[in-house]
Amino acid sequence: MTQATTPAAKAAEAFERLHGRAPEGVWSAPGRVNLIGEHTDYNDGYVLPFALPHRIAVAASPRADGVMTVSTMGDDGGLQEADPVVVADLVPGTVKGWAAYPSGVAWALREQGIAVTAGADLVIAGDVPAGAGLSSSHALECAVALALLGLAGVDAERPDIARWVQRSENDFVGAPTGILDQTASLCCVEAHALFYDVRSGKPEQVAFDAAASGLEVLVIDTRASHALVDGGYGARRAGCERAAEILGVPALRDVDIAELDQTLVRLPEDLRPLVRHVVTENDRVLRTVDLLRKGRLAEVGPLLSGSHASLRDDYRVSCLELDVAVDSAMAAGALGARMVGGGFGGSAIALVPVERHDEVERSVLAGFASRSLTRPRLFTAVPSAGAGRDR
Ligand code: GLA
Repeated sequence: MTQATTPAAKAAEAFERLHGRAPEGVWSAPGRVNLIGEHTDYNDGYVLPFALPHRIAVAASPRADGVMTVSTMGDDGGLQEADPVVVADLVPGTVKGWAAYPSGVAWALREQGIAVTAGADLVIAGDVPAGAGLSSSHALECAVALALLGLAGVDAERPDIARWVQRSENDFVGAPTGILDQTASLCCVEAHALFYDVRSGKPEQVAFDAAASGLEVLVIDTRASHALVDGGYGARRAGCERAAEILGVPALRDVDIAELDQTLVRLPEDLRPLVRHVVTENDRVLRTVDLLRKGRLAEVGPLLSGSHASLRDDYRVSCLELDVAVDSAMAAGALGARMVGGGFGGSAIALVPVERHDEVERSVLAGFASRSLTRPRLFTAVPSAGAGRDR
């Protein structure tokens, strides 16, 4: 037998090994990086992610007894089996650990009135680095959502599926995240970044070909852990909601950047930096999209670095490893660099002229080594396809 290489092939092969028959189908969904637009999604603002080539695949077949079984493949190829669940009985708070993600999706779809209660067998395999802030858990949830919808024969709009997945994450898993990651995984297309206005809910594809400009997006996985279920993310989200309430606007998206200074003085001091970040970050997204449309990618660099400074100093979600990644990439000739995702660890990106790749990589590795930090993992990110059916 030839060695399965893609996550989809691995999941299918593992399914057959475990269940003694081929799966009815295989669906997969990618991880993402967000080029810019951080902590704007739950403020009704703008984001600009693209999909990674790394994916999580789900091989699936229907059952008739109401039970959902889920197995996931580890790095060594071994399968870890979660306790089977009865889909009709799923209640938030009852499933713990990684199994909460697939169970939460089944719960959210059931709550939506979609026919998932007959149950299913799912086998998962993937290559999105876990805990790296590259949305491996959202890729898993999105792939499970497509698989369960596929088995149920339901065709739904991608932004709707993203909302159901968000509900599973917020209300079943208990992580108060926004909608950036699910939308990226479900709606991105190859060679494009996704300009998403969360308020309008309309995905717009913007051509993004760094190589054509002699550039690349280097991902630096700091390997510092990040956990969105912890309080830091929720506290900032609550701060933004409180600020919007005091200002009498539906969301911070509605604060006009031209009136930012006058607006900030109406707020308690602790909320001002949060608002300044969200308002200036939305503006940086719009300026980035404008530059991309004009083919002026190199000029995006200072916007990325501005985003990082704002996340570090105003929003205060960076950490030593992310700052070292950004500073050492910049010192070696990156045009711009920033942390991506929720923060407190995870990954950074750097916009790098291709001919500076080796120097930037050396500088980042040396920066980490000189501070005795765990060696980071670096790779070049190419905008890849969104979620879909593989077979
Ligand atoms: C995490 C969340 C997203 C978004 C980002 C910050 O990735 O899952 O919804 O809020 O943080 O931009």
